[in-house]
Amino acid sequence: MSQASSVSTVPDVPAQRFDVRPFAGTVGAEIVGLDLSRPLNDQDFARIHRAHLEHHVLVFRDQRISPEQQIAFSRRFGVLQIHVLKQFLLAGHPEILIVSNIIENGQNIGLGDAGKFWHSDLSYKELPSLGSMLHAQELPAEGGDTLFADQHKAWDSLPETLRKAVEGHSAAHSYTARYSETKFEGNWRPTLTPEQLAQVAEVVHPIVRTHPETGRKALFVSEGFTTRIVGLPEDESRQLLSELYTHSVRPEHIYRHQWQPRDLVFWDNRSLVHLAAGCPSHLRRKLYRTTIQGDAPF
Ligand code: SIN
Repeated sequence: MSQASSVSTVPDVPAQRFDVRPFAGTVGAEIVGLDLSRPLNDQDFARIHRAHLEHHVLVFRDQRISPEQQIAFSRRFGVLQIHVLKQFLLAGHPEILIVSNIIENGQNIGLGDAGKFWHSDLSYKELPSLGSMLHAQELPAEGGDTLFADQHKAWDSLPETLRKAVEGHSAAHSYTARYSETKFEGNWRPTLTPEQLAQVAEVVHPIVRTHPETGRKALFVSEGFTTRIVGLPEDESRQLLSELYTHSVRPEHIYRHQWQPRDLVFWDNRSLVHLAAGCPSHLRRKLYRTTIQGDAPF
């Protein structure tokens, strides 16, 4: 059952004319002609929902939308998740995590190092994210790309020996796995309080998950949050995970997004892992992220 189809309907809203244009050769599609500042009727919403399931990452160019409009659009796909780092939530809109390297009055205004390692958002929770939306607010003149790797393709093309080694196995995921390593020049991560640590206790998920809406299998491990394969000796687990990571982000699985002003990008965390390529620290980058809760992986 799709989570999205259970969310409220919008009556008497005129249809918008728009196209879904798949990118050549990789995952992803551009949605051309849709204005997310206008209401979206149920038929248009259903097309977007289908495109998201088919292409896994959707790019909506030049969206002049407010935080409220981003939140409202995100909510049509499900319940929104509030990030554990409360310091970086947008004032008045805790559903929005500020992803930014900007420092004001000696303080980071957002999470500067989000996405420094390949990951699927909130895989460290019992209910990881269905998908995330990033809306560009300020972009650097150089760098700042986001890369997305298709984990269905990764699973489908996994060599037989690796498939046999991981099928039926589970792996542990932890928010704090790379917490100290994610600090880098000009950015900081606050020390987590006991309450925050309790919210991000280690969880275990299957290494190969089934997409709850399409039934397709996908690899579900990442260098960002996966710590070990349950039941394997440490060195064997490390070796196997390293082979999975290398395979999962092979160039043929990747779409590289080069941001343009006011882009809104919406991806499926059940199908993809993603990575922030980074930009020179003196260049300002700021995006607003909403994160939609998904199902328990199976
Ligand atoms: C994220 O991992 O949510 C942020 C990605 C980015 O900043 O490009």
